[in-house]
Amino acid sequence: MEELRSLFSRGNYKELINLATKVLIAEPENREVLYLRGVALQRTGNFEGSLEDLYQALRLEPTNLLVRDHIRQIHRRLVGQWHYDMMNDTPRNEAYKEAIERIIEPGMTVLEIGTGSGLLAMLCAKKAKHVYTCERLAPIAKVAREIIKRNGFEGKITLIDKLSTAIQVGSEIPEKVDIVVGEIFGPALLEEQALYFFHDAKERLLKPGSKFLPNAARMFGCFVECPELSRKSIVKEVYGFNLSLFNALHDDPAVQANITNYPHTFLTENFDLCENIKFGEKASNNQIKKVEFKKSGILTGICQWFELYFDGTVLSTSPNAPSTHWNQHIQLFENPVHVKKGDTLTFEVRQFSDRFSVRAIEIG
Ligand SMILES: C[S@@+](CC[C@H](N)C(=O)[O-])C[C@H]1O[C@@H](n2cnc3c(N)ncnc32)[C@H](O)[C@@H]1O
Repeated sequence: MEELRSLFSRGNYKELINLATKVLIAEPENREVLYLRGVALQRTGNFEGSLEDLYQALRLEPTNLLVRDHIRQIHRRLVGQWHYDMMNDTPRNEAYKEAIERIIEPGMTVLEIGTGSGLLAMLCAKKAKHVYTCERLAPIAKVAREIIKRNGFEGKITLIDKLSTAIQVGSEIPEKVDIVVGEIFGPALLEEQALYFFHDAKERLLKPGSKFLPNAARMFGCFVECPELSRKSIVKEVYGFNLSLFNALHDDPAVQANITNYPHTFLTENFDLCENIKFGEKASNNQIKKVEFKKSGILTGICQWFELYFDGTVLSTSPNAPSTHWNQHIQLFENPVHVKKGDTLTFEVRQFSDRFSVRAIEIG
């Protein structure tokens, strides 16, 4: 025990984890060792492993406030604050609800990717024959299971505590499903790897010709002057010290914000960054584009937003639409440039797995 405590106090977590693992084989209910390994796993970024140890330690000693505090820290880290804003996001909820009620038919089986609180799974379960839903984060899955039970949907929804890519037909789900529903989008649309997960579901888990909710998206952009937002993501000189090397730690700087809350000028018309994103397909959309400036100003970034399509229903995160928890994604340029009305900008739009990124090529 002394050696474990000493490794802990010296911050030697790798060795501590190895040694604690050996001790726990012989003494699986040793509370202190579970606690020490749990915290060591937390400090090395293995939050899921850490939670397993800490829950076990708490089960053995429910009044231990230190263990509770570490569990709370991990929950905060894993379960972003945005979840609450998202669950209460009326334009988002209404679009999904309307589409689910219109498109899902009583005989259908549904796969929902990413259950969160279970909200969309329960909306689907009101119409569908059965809903399979999954959640990659264990603490969220645990709570969602209880929410689903308390709302009376236990028999109608199967919650799988796994990443969607780990689901197998014949194992976690009995057969391929009729429709896939997913709200795995961030402010820049692709942060949660939606294209990859929908494509995987199409290849392995869906019947031929099955539907996607949403089935498509479109990404928009507009070049802007917004100096206040630049300051949130880019540093230059402070008290005469040049701090700009720090920017290298934040490659491709961006902020998520409701741009209408900050002084800004749209310098161009809105344009398509990517017009035809089809869920279930895995196309890459790198393109060269050109726009004309409609106003003179300082080009500090590009404001991006998206529309989701549900065979009729449209959900928009445009600054002109009712505001959503996504707000807009504003990519910022490290070196703002003066532009004049009538100038043109040629730029490249690059599609990464988690975002679209714009690189200016030439101002003419
Ligand atoms: C944006 S939230 C949406 C939650 C809920 N569906 C809703 O709309 O209220 C996405 C949730 O899906 C989970 N998730 C994302 N991708 C997943 C995947 N491929 N498989 C399982 N869970 C996933 C995340 O951990 C998160 O809890």
